[in-house]
Amino acid sequence: MVQQKQDYLWWQTGVIYQIYPRSFQDSNGDGIGDIPGIIQRLDYLKWLGLKAVWISPFYPSPMKDFGYDISDYTAIDSIFGTLEDFDQLVREIHQRNMKIILDLVPNHTSDQHPWFLESRSSRDNPKRDWYIWQDAGEDNAPPNNWLAMFGGTAWEWDEATNQYYYHAFLKEQPDLNWRNPEVREAMYNVMRFWLDRGVDGFRVDVMWHMIKDKLLRDNPPNDEYLPHMATYEQLLPVYSTDQPEVHEIVREMRSLLDSYEDRMMIGEIYLPIHKLVSYYGNDNDGTHLPFNFMLLSATWDASSIARSIDEYEGALPMYGWPNWVLSNHDQPRITSRVGIQQSRVAAILLLTLRGTPTIYYGDEIGMRDVPIPFAEVHDPQGLNMPDKNLSRDPARTPMQWDNSKYAGFTSGKPWLRIDKSSHRENVESQKTNEYSILRIYRRLIELRNSEPSLMYGNYIPVASDKQVIAYVRKYEGYPSFLVVLNLSHRPAYFKPVHKPMSGTIILGTVPDLEGQPYQDMINLSGDEGIVVKLDDHHRQ
Ligand code: GLC
Repeated sequence: MVQQKQDYLWWQTGVIYQIYPRSFQDSNGDGIGDIPGIIQRLDYLKWLGLKAVWISPFYPSPMKDFGYDISDYTAIDSIFGTLEDFDQLVREIHQRNMKIILDLVPNHTSDQHPWFLESRSSRDNPKRDWYIWQDAGEDNAPPNNWLAMFGGTAWEWDEATNQYYYHAFLKEQPDLNWRNPEVREAMYNVMRFWLDRGVDGFRVDVMWHMIKDKLLRDNPPNDEYLPHMATYEQLLPVYSTDQPEVHEIVREMRSLLDSYEDRMMIGEIYLPIHKLVSYYGNDNDGTHLPFNFMLLSATWDASSIARSIDEYEGALPMYGWPNWVLSNHDQPRITSRVGIQQSRVAAILLLTLRGTPTIYYGDEIGMRDVPIPFAEVHDPQGLNMPDKNLSRDPARTPMQWDNSKYAGFTSGKPWLRIDKSSHRENVESQKTNEYSILRIYRRLIELRNSEPSLMYGNYIPVASDKQVIAYVRKYEGYPSFLVVLNLSHRPAYFKPVHKPMSGTIILGTVPDLEGQPYQDMINLSGDEGIVVKLDDHHRQ
């Protein structure tokens, strides 16, 4: 299927930005970000050139997992604002010709959700089967060996009704039973509620978890388990996740979305590439963008990254649109994984590969993971496995807007520490600094938004070795681009293998190289990357 240029949709051509609402902008001094705060910052997002914002959950929640434990799917938690604030947010985003993507958490609710309160009230409650209840095994043991992502067994005993219920995450996050048609309909109604309010898409939380083995068989041991890993990884979750029936649910969600105009969904899926791509569906009837987390877990080495990109490009179905992610609220930030200098190279990679990039708030100013003293840790993953350095708080700290006491984030006391570098590294200071990472992000987005080759041109690998990765982006009839990235800290040469190329360097990790001619061979400093606009004869 060859797409014509005009066929490309907003979620294919534009850049997505993830907002973790607790940490983006506080408007009322309680130290926690909120929806009116996001509205105040929309002009910044527009200035950056973004097309869409995905906002992590802001629904009513006991906040055991900071909003991923929802007690009401169709309202706004008062910490974050009101439904009126939300409607205003949608209006203001749309006025700026941008889109809004909400987080949909269909796998589990809070244990305080009225559905669960009913379900656990008695064995014969009509909602009993909305969750996964099981009798105890021998000696009151859990029904099987499944483990919870946040530590311990995945089964919680309920004294009142003498059964266990299943929770893939915290015990305060019971899993819904997606085999029950009423559950499906209830969740599809949630989707309709937000779509009718003008939402443009969903990021579907833990999509690959949504349905479990009917027989609830034991998961086998993971022979590659090492002591530093989360306890969950002791087993291979082959029966508790990624079941064939999940695709039926995804198809149903997709057809609901397709009954509206121009809507989309992203699936949060941590699976190897060949399994991941099955979530596109059989005939373009799956999720539009199964999140590709390859760059989150990759060893930062040019040849292995180049190989992974090829594997991904090679595995995509004809109708499968690629996408790329460098960081999110569950993982260490890119800056803390590869270093501040290399994170500039990573920015070029993210924004010049073929497919939709998602930027995690703050990455564009090089925010790094912030050390949080143990006494101040909020994240249950960090609290439950204290010896494993798994807390996600360091990557969730407040956005650094300016050099004031609390970085322009709040007038009160921030819910989580702000990086001590915030007086130097912030949006205000970087906006005017030619050498800042923010400038690189903004220029890259600008370039992508205006050049068809970067927006939807082919990806053509040119060369890779232990240090350098180089590729061309090309869309017939338009200028082509050569991207050369030094993924190491040492200087490196690059010379195209097959044929000589020439052009002009139009963007670099530092501005000094820009405007210089490029001819065939180039010598890059460590942590340097360039984008070359190739001369016209490379167009065909
Ligand atoms: C997803 C979210 C994560 C959350 C988990 C349970 O992985 O990204 O933050 O803890 O689901 O809902």
